[in-house]
Amino acid sequence: MSLNKLDVNDPLLKWRDAFPIVNETTYLINNSLGAMPRAVYDSLRDYADTWAARGIRAWGEGWWDMNVALGNQIAGIIGAPSNTVSMHQNVSLAQGILLSCFDFDGPRNKVVIEGGIFPSVYYVLRGMLPSHIELCMIPGDDDISVSVERIVDAIDERTLLVPVSHVLFRSAYILDVKPIIDKAHAVGATVILDGYHAAGIVPFDVTALNVDFYLAGVLKWMCGGPGGVFLYAREDHLKTMKPGLTGWMAHQRPFDFEVADIELRDDAFRFLNGTPAMASLYANRPGVEIIAQVGVENIRRKSKHQTALLIELAEAAGYAVNSPRDPERRGGTVTVNPPHAYEVSRELITREILVDYRPQAGIRISPHFYNSDDEVRMVISAIQAILDNGAWEQHTSGRAFVT
Ligand SMILES: Cc1ncc(COP(=O)(O)O)c(C=O)c1O
Repeated sequence: MSLNKLDVNDPLLKWRDAFPIVNETTYLINNSLGAMPRAVYDSLRDYADTWAARGIRAWGEGWWDMNVALGNQIAGIIGAPSNTVSMHQNVSLAQGILLSCFDFDGPRNKVVIEGGIFPSVYYVLRGMLPSHIELCMIPGDDDISVSVERIVDAIDERTLLVPVSHVLFRSAYILDVKPIIDKAHAVGATVILDGYHAAGIVPFDVTALNVDFYLAGVLKWMCGGPGGVFLYAREDHLKTMKPGLTGWMAHQRPFDFEVADIELRDDAFRFLNGTPAMASLYANRPGVEIIAQVGVENIRRKSKHQTALLIELAEAAGYAVNSPRDPERRGGTVTVNPPHAYEVSRELITREILVDYRPQAGIRISPHFYNSDDEVRMVISAIQAILDNGAWEQHTSGRAFVT
């Protein structure tokens, strides 16, 4: 699309051409899957060329270390020291690795979570926690937020773990996580933050937060594609935690092939297990490099502006908005709930305006640094048009779509 005068002055729009789909569609679904950087073609070709030409030698020429090398690039974005970030396939598995470090037979028999937790994380907790562990869930206050104060109050001497979201996936509500971390540490509990909706759009510093573990995917706001989730572990945990879900990559001497107790490494490799999915690591890298170049502070500044514009336009059109009004508490998504929201979202997608829909929330609209203000205006006027002319009625025959 052509850009208006204000948009032409937006320095971040120079990145549009680096993302093919941004010029083919109105790509406002970055909270679900960030646009693919054009450089992924070259990166995956590099993977294939390396495999084809170097074969087995590739392991010694970069592949073995590539997981943590990519982790180190992410470390630079999230304020982590080198060699504290490892890459995993998804958050569910990474949560499983973390849970496998803990002894549930001790006196601590409580795990505190919040009602906005991503369901897959809940399923893993329910599946791996023994039945005598109390899973204490602090419900949301409304459709948008959850009370940090109530989470803090629920953390006590019985608490072993506090796995909570940093940014809620439905509303993009940013939890003020520092008091949660401080209280947990004061009573001897461990905090696992799920920052899937923060990484790449909301600046944070894991060292300043003093959080124990931070998990997030690169596929949304970091434009890194599926199969890439990072796990930051505080340095002291890299020396003491003993994951039961482990493997030879975590061993200090993997190539001795000893069938004996594992001697775990003291760095990010400690949380690895078996052979990594190399193709994903190659695919993940260009997005991470671009986010580092653009800068999360710059992305955040623009995001606050565009999410404010979305809220202003949605409210002017009379639609419910299920995202925080306070920009300091709002992540990169604005959830708009017009009448017939599900059907409207399907029609938007038919018109190549890519968004998604979540039950109990509405249509999630999530502009990124490569989106123009014109696109933000266009999605709200498209919703109005779809409601006015009844185009939403073509989509009333069932809910099948996955986004
Ligand atoms: C907060 C949060 N955690 C985790 C996930 C995904 O989990 P997984 O990586 O296991 O698919 C999502 C996906 O949207 C999410 O929003």
